[in-house]
Amino acid sequence: MIEVLGLRKSLRTGTRELEILKGIEFTVAKGEFVAIMGSSGSGKSTLLGLLAGLDSPTKGEVRLNGTSISYLTEDKLAQIRGRTLGFVFQSYQLIPTLTALENVLLPYELNTTETSARGTGLERARSLLEAVGLLDRLDHYPVQLSGGEQQRVALARAFVLRPPIVLADEPTGNLDSVNGQQVLKLLVNLNQVEGTTLVLVTHDPAVAALAHRRITLKDGTVIKDERVNATLDEPSGRFETHSAPSATQRSLAP
Ligand SMILES: Nc1ncnc2c1ncn2[C@@H]1O[C@H](COP(=O)(O)OP(=O)(O)OP(=O)(O)O)[C@@H](O)[C@H]1O
Ligand SMILES: [Mg+2]
Repeated sequence: MIEVLGLRKSLRTGTRELEILKGIEFTVAKGEFVAIMGSSGSGKSTLLGLLAGLDSPTKGEVRLNGTSISYLTEDKLAQIRGRTLGFVFQSYQLIPTLTALENVLLPYELNTTETSARGTGLERARSLLEAVGLLDRLDHYPVQLSGGEQQRVALARAFVLRPPIVLADEPTGNLDSVNGQQVLKLLVNLNQVEGTTLVLVTHDPAVAALAHRRITLKDGTVIKDERVNATLDEPSGRFETHSAPSATQRSLAP
């Protein structure tokens, strides 16, 4: 599903060439839940950006379902990204002029042409916002939301189109333990019920404890890649539920 091959990223700062990622290799299977860990500055966000095709590598490539996304034109990339990936930025990146509900609905509106589908999108957006505890904040604008609330809106937005893959940069980074637990339940539920492949950057031991696998970065290299528990014994077949919403999918609330 996700293949990372010899991935390198260098950046020039002044006269110095800074190597941020130094040859990263790993594969993530369909339905897997992977936690990317490592200290600040180890390259986690850079790696996640490359996985999403938000940035191009200096060398190597990222393949999503067999297609290399690392050197595509912006148009092609947008097409693939729109249907395949949900992304949660470390800095949320909500649209300030849209309400919480409108922010969550945005990917739906950008990717769905039939107006008949809008009702389904609305229902999905509301149930996701409910699952992250924001049903009473639907009409709030980002400036009227706390950091943790914005983070939860960004998370709901990433899942609205039922993408097969969600990449999230510290999705519980700004949450207290109660809200963190709620978000975690949602993530686990989406991983188990909808089969969403999850790659999360995290410092949070509670998140790492639930992942199937932990990949640890240090100074731009993978220093550890460990399988945490063997619950993923059937990576495919069990999770073929990305198309029409079913009764189980409608009830997302943990
Ligand atoms: N545009 C840039 N120009 C120069 N250096 C950069 C740039 N972006 C990132 N870096 C450097 O690359 C390294 C990795 O950054 P990255 O944001 O990937 O770290 P991180 O592991 O996500 O850290 P954190 O846990 O603090 O979010 C850092 O040392 C950072 O200073
Ligand atoms: Mg980061």
